[in-house]
Amino acid sequence: MTQADFEFIRDLAYSQTGIVLPDRKRHMVYSRLCRRLRALRINDFRQYCLLLQQQQEQELGHFINALTTNLTSFFREKHHFEFLRDELIPRWQKRADKRLRIWSSACSTGEEPYSIAMTLEPFFAKSPWDLKILATDLDTNVLTKAEAGLYPPENLENLPGKLMDKYFQPKGNVFKVTDDAQKLVFFRQLNLLESWPMQGPFDVIFCRNVLIYFDNPTKKKIISKFRQLLSDDGYLFIGHSETLHHISDEFDLIGQTIYRPNRRLNHF
Ligand SMILES: C[S@@+](CC[C@H](N)C(=O)[O-])C[C@H]1O[C@@H](n2cnc3c(N)ncnc32)[C@H](O)[C@@H]1O
Repeated sequence: MTQADFEFIRDLAYSQTGIVLPDRKRHMVYSRLCRRLRALRINDFRQYCLLLQQQQEQELGHFINALTTNLTSFFREKHHFEFLRDELIPRWQKRADKRLRIWSSACSTGEEPYSIAMTLEPFFAKSPWDLKILATDLDTNVLTKAEAGLYPPENLENLPGKLMDKYFQPKGNVFKVTDDAQKLVFFRQLNLLESWPMQGPFDVIFCRNVLIYFDNPTKKKIISKFRQLLSDDGYLFIGHSETLHHISDEFDLIGQTIYRPNRRLNHF
């Protein structure tokens, strides 16, 4: 991979996904795309860049799927789930409108939205409650896995036994998320960089461990759009190494990587 090839790949990744690939990620880019080159039986990166130029529509999805980092786990950064359980659930139970909307906006292989579902299901799954968890990601491969809801035992090691028994059924040598949790989650492909079809308002938006891949102008655009879709008394959860400091003045930090809108929006 020459410097020119790397720069072409870096610029395409940035324009299509917002993901910034600095020079220090060159080796990672090389090894992730090598797998794709092998699958296509292409011998060098020059040829692959030409293919991306000539047949961008067909190849772009594979290119993006190869470059995304999808690391996730059940109940990752558990303080967010404790905040849901200890602060939000008791408050929401008193709500008159009985409608809850949660968005997991970079859901990867589904562990995050299913963890949300398992936290909320005992309280809000039945009528008169109307609970929906929207789970979106750019990468179509991870969405296929998320929708299947099948996980190897090693991915479930940190789950409390009672959640394991309630929400997973053995299926061959893997475990399947039960319908009770799965029926609450709606998976869709969505690029955070493009326009979003949802109207909101959401009660909580999870945007965890994806802002780190973006530069400040991209973060600012996305965070300001989150504000538009978040209810005035909603919450935004971000990842452990992320901050809204210097990114947005529309939110107050009220807990560990937990933000609240600080002004009412005039929706008219
Ligand atoms: C490291 S994972 C984080 C998963 C989960 N939120 C968590 O914290 O465990 C980052 C995810 O962001 C997704 N992603 C990257 N760029 C994106 C974009 N422009 N729009 C939507 N999702 C994106 C990737 O496909 C990947 O699945």
